[in-house]
Amino acid sequence: MKFDTPATTNPIDQLKVVGKPVDRIDGPLKVTGTAGYANDRHDVAAHQAHGYIVGSAIPKGRIVSMDVSAARAAPGVLAIVTADNASQLGKGTFNTARLLGGPAIEHYHQAIAVVVAETFEQARAAGHLLKVRYERAPGAFELDARKDSAKPVESNGAAAETAVGDFAGNFANAPVQVDATYTTAHESHSMIEPFASVAAWNGEQLTLWTSNQMIAWTAADVAKTLGIPKENVRVSSPFIGGGFGAKLWLRADALLAALGARAALRPVRVAMPRALIPNNTVHRSATIQRIRIGATRDGRITAIAHESLSGNLPEGGPEAAAIQTRSLYAGPHRMTANRIALLDLPEANAMRAPNEAPGLAALEIAIDEVAEKLGMDPVAFRIANDTQFVPDNPAKPASNDPQSKAGEEKHNPRPPFSQRQLVECLRLGARRFGWDKRNAQPGRVRDGRWLVGMGVAAAIRDNLVMNSGARVRLDQRGFVTVETDMTDIGTGSYTVIAQTAAEMMGVGLERVLVRLGDSTYPVSCGSGGQWGGNSATAGVYAACLKLREAVARKAGLASTDAVFANGQVRGGTRSVPLGEVAGPDGLVAEDSIEFGDLNKQMQQATFGAHFVEVGVDAATGETRVRRMLAVCAAGRILNPKTARSQVIGGMTMGVGAALMEELAVDTRLGLFVNHDLAGYEVPVHADIPHQDVIFLNETDPTSSPMKAKGVGELGICGTAAAVANAVYNATGVRVRDYPITLDKLL
Ligand code: MOS
Repeated sequence: MKFDTPATTNPIDQLKVVGKPVDRIDGPLKVTGTAGYANDRHDVAAHQAHGYIVGSAIPKGRIVSMDVSAARAAPGVLAIVTADNASQLGKGTFNTARLLGGPAIEHYHQAIAVVVAETFEQARAAGHLLKVRYERAPGAFELDARKDSAKPVESNGAAAETAVGDFAGNFANAPVQVDATYTTAHESHSMIEPFASVAAWNGEQLTLWTSNQMIAWTAADVAKTLGIPKENVRVSSPFIGGGFGAKLWLRADALLAALGARAALRPVRVAMPRALIPNNTVHRSATIQRIRIGATRDGRITAIAHESLSGNLPEGGPEAAAIQTRSLYAGPHRMTANRIALLDLPEANAMRAPNEAPGLAALEIAIDEVAEKLGMDPVAFRIANDTQFVPDNPAKPASNDPQSKAGEEKHNPRPPFSQRQLVECLRLGARRFGWDKRNAQPGRVRDGRWLVGMGVAAAIRDNLVMNSGARVRLDQRGFVTVETDMTDIGTGSYTVIAQTAAEMMGVGLERVLVRLGDSTYPVSCGSGGQWGGNSATAGVYAACLKLREAVARKAGLASTDAVFANGQVRGGTRSVPLGEVAGPDGLVAEDSIEFGDLNKQMQQATFGAHFVEVGVDAATGETRVRRMLAVCAAGRILNPKTARSQVIGGMTMGVGAALMEELAVDTRLGLFVNHDLAGYEVPVHADIPHQDVIFLNETDPTSSPMKAKGVGELGICGTAAAVANAVYNATGVRVRDYPITLDKLL
């Protein structure tokens, strides 16, 4: 179904099942260890062999020679695939560097071989017997040193640069000014389930059981890389132990499992060792962000500029950290730029709330700095600069678009937000958190050895929508089965999809079966960019509408007045059990939601306010987060339990970004040194205090028939800055360089 006018009242609005905090329907499988994660798929193919990936020992240059003879002769070895003996490989659409390198090497730990053996230990032992001679080329590994080569780059359709009014003149004349540079660190996704795949060939047909967020993208990229028809590739990814963006695309584990299986004539499993992940796969680039804000003495922003620099390999995209500054605050004179510098580090790419997460980490400190200079409360300063229109909308139609003329007429440079309750988030949060108890003078509140401070930050994250399909089947027992290639990366997709089907068909949740993550099912939106919850359930809604029509037709009822409730369809005085209508053959319907341009006429975004209290040890500078609160406005909340879980997960990752997460670059060797969870610190339970999440009552009829929005990324947006601002309030030390480790406070 086409979705191009705002949703009216529909069966979801009954909210009998949708909107309820039901437990995850896949929870029992997970807690009993029976969910089929890729590396546990012993069941899917007999006689699985094991592949071990060998990564390049240099960051840039070429392989002069590779002697595989000792490895080939090692016990249990079945095959060794390198660029030399793999057939000609194409380049996928989504990966920046090649997934099997050689002879040219583009980054450290780029895969140069997969060794296949009877056991994992044999494959690993043989992998260490490869004798590789390299010729190293000089490379660039330090973002700061590459500043002068920065070039503005577009990011997923968002302009590289924007300018409104006269920023320079008005900033220069502003009575209150902040001009500061902030840096964020290279970060690793560090999802709990490493990359893993099992590959099996049946003639020309390849099946991959893997861990992946986007089934259709990945199946297409496997085919493109191997040079085989798309129809010959099946990808199955029913359970995923976290992705955070790293698993949006095909990675080396899946491709090398396929190549290894082809060479060994056996199904092959490849599980990527943790220590290979940060350098072999993807990370979030560090950023250097300069922010300038000019304001009047009574607290109005008159000029605002945000320039961001990130690094990547050739053809890689930017971390567009200036993006939210185009829409978060009012102010007539503005400019933003997202720039990129070439680095020879591994590929940088999307990590949870790409752009906004590091962007708000900087912007929301800058806002705190302006408020302080004004002597104004930072909550009040944000409220005073709220805007209900996008002040700087760069989403102009592309000039090579044949429809651009019509598009330009429709283009509104200052579209309204479909919903924007940022002020409500800030006000309610301040009240619930006890913000009035905050001492505006930094360094004045003491609790034993702890200096105590409070910080606030605003959050904004786009609400993207993506077309999404599903198939629903009604059987003779009155059960509804949903099939879609949507994935559940720990987000709760299984559950909100089941709730949607139950609501639409008028059955209890126990009568809904959900099957996800398989390329034989209709193509969905997949899990990314926090679009999954709203878009995937909207696709299920569309398919269920069709199924309702089929049921009504078969029952001899007019579809307009058929009522679906209690496992029955009712029309007038007639009521028939759904199973009876379905009959022995059952009834099937398939449809997809196709989004029009409602989200261009009105800016759809999600908003939030974060409040954080920290204690900083007066002697050691150790920071402990003591309390956290997020207030979110994110459309209809489909399941408050799974949504809360998403938000607190994002808040936890925000604490990581604020206080500990940093991939340390060895600038001589050109690699991330701390490439495992011993050296790359992420928050553990003991680091995270009680977290509160409040969802505002909101429905957004422009987002989809579900009237929902994404929350999966909102929770990390702004959190780091709220922590940083709390640290400042506690100590009076302004750290502009993440992570805020204790050495920066002493
Ligand atoms: Mo997300 S970073 O699009 O998985």
